[in-house]
Order: sequence, then structure tokens, then C-alpha cells
Amino acid sequence: MSKPIVVIGSSNVDFIMKMDHLPARDETVVNAVFMQTFGGKGANQAVAAGRAGGNVIFVNCVGDDPYAERMLAGFRESGINTAYIFRETGIASGAALVMIGEGGHNYLSVAPGANARLTPERVDAVRELIADAAYVLMQFEIPPASIARALDIAAETGTPVVWNYAPALPFDATQLKQVNIVIANEVEAAALTGVPVTDLASAQTAAQKLRELGAQTAIITLGEAGSVVATEEGAQHIPAFPVEAVDTTAAGDTYCGCLVVALAEGQSLTDAVRFASAGGALCVQRMGAQPSIPWREEIEAFLQAAPDNMLISPPG
Ligand code: RIB
Repeated sequence: MSKPIVVIGSSNVDFIMKMDHLPARDETVVNAVFMQTFGGKGANQAVAAGRAGGNVIFVNCVGDDPYAERMLAGFRESGINTAYIFRETGIASGAALVMIGEGGHNYLSVAPGANARLTPERVDAVRELIADAAYVLMQFEIPPASIARALDIAAETGTPVVWNYAPALPFDATQLKQVNIVIANEVEAAALTGVPVTDLASAQTAAQKLRELGAQTAIITLGEAGSVVATEEGAQHIPAFPVEAVDTTAAGDTYCGCLVVALAEGQSLTDAVRFASAGGALCVQRMGAQPSIPWREEIEAFLQAAPDNMLISPPG
């Protein structure tokens, strides 16, 4: 079996309301449709990597609520090794309220719950896993000190790190020197660099700034406008696949999980971004976080059917 992809991150119980428009302050929208699914940026990325065919170990904390066992069962169905998911007592699993409006865009708020128990000491306990991993994949929904500890261990053991800076919270950017690939959307990239990202040119500026801050490779995801990828060889724009979005929740997570699987298989960065974009394009066409994450066969069928018009160009 190939070396594992170790995902260190959060899991949440998602409570979703889909409505025709997002409420303004003090407004009540009465036409919402309710769904409860499982999410969390770490869990979504682990599920995406597992369904895309990766050998995935998920390091996470869940609570002692009735949802936890169902979450774990879902991870196992997606092919994830759950041996390093810690069951915390006296605390609920993480939870998220997701409101989805026009165009599938969402408003999100998160109660960390047991995710706050994924402490630096817990990360120390999985040091050997990090050392033996093909990649470590992280987000920003667990304590920042734990991210810092995992980055230190990965630097010591020479394990490549892919870090999705989501959500955009205060961060010591000097730690980017320990990140091989940083992935951020427009909002997150602007928070990290101070460069407002409004088009391909500003995305390229932000991506180069992330490299100057220390990341070897920077990927800015721009939704339907695709991705800007900056490496030591320069920047390129990789378009997205045009699809009709009903819910963008977990699209970025699917992208990250698929990207790491493709890289772990030895695909080029460009091919890996294309594979990741296909995963994201499938995800946005369905409702919910984990229910919308595609399996490998679907991604391959989508790529085979997709017109080979992925013009790859320097951002203009
Ligand atoms: O990225 C989407 C995820 O963000 C949701 O599943 C929600 O749980 C929040 O963590």
C-alpha cells in the first residue's frame, strides 16, 4: 500500500438551510429547506481524498454526542483509517450552521466543540504518522498552536505539507516557510497577503506574495474563474469546468483532498489541479458537504467527458 496521506483537522455536524435568498439583518426568510449532513473542513478533505482513491489517515477529535458514531461510520465508508480519531468526553462534536442562497453561495458559522481538543499534545502523539506520510494535509479549523506543531514536526521529518488557509483567521505568516503548497480562495489570500484579489492579475500578485512569504507553491482558487498556480517557474491560470452550482459548500475541500491524492500518485501539479477542479465541479452540483463529494470513478468519467479545452495560460 502507498504511503498514507495524513489529514489533521476538524469535523462538524452541518445544519443546512437552503433558501431563495440569504436574509438581510433582522429579516426572516420562511421558504428554507433544511438538511442535516456531516462536514468540517478537515473531514471533508479526508473524505474527498478517501473517495478519490487515497490511502488516508484522519487525525481528529469528535465528542460523545449521538452524531459522533455516525460520522465515524461515514469516514470508514469513504475508505478512511479512523484509528487516530479521538473520542472526547463531556463535549459535543463540532457543529456548523450553513445558510445557502442564490447561486449556491453560503454563509457559515462554526462552533468548534471537540475540534478545540485537537491540541499540540495530540499532534505530538501522531509524530510517527507525520514522519511516515506521503503528505500532511491541513486546514485552519483546529487550534493554531496545533497547526504550528504539525508544521514543526513535518519540517523536522521532511514530510511535505499542503495547507488550506481556511477559514481566514489571524496567522503568523512566517510559518509559510514550512508549507510546501498553500491553497487559499480570494478572501483568504487577501487576508494572508493584504492584496485584494479581484481578478486573475491580482490573484497572481497574491500568489507570488505567498511565495515570497515562504510557501514553495501557492494556489489561489477563484471559483468559476479557476485557479492561479504560482511556482518557482512562474504563474499559470488553470480554468474551472463550467457547471451549474447549486451549493458550493465543501467544493474547496473537495479540491484540496483530490489535489493531494493526485500529487501522491505522482501526477504533475497541472494535472493534479485539473483533477482537483473536476472534483470541485462535481461537488458544487449537489447539496451538502460530504454527500456531495465525488468518488474516483465519477471524477474520471467527468474528466473523460470534459472538452479538452483547458487552456493553461499566464494570468493576463
Ligand atoms: O468547507 C465547508 C465546511 O466548513 C462545512 O462542512 C462546515 O462544517 C465548515 O467547517
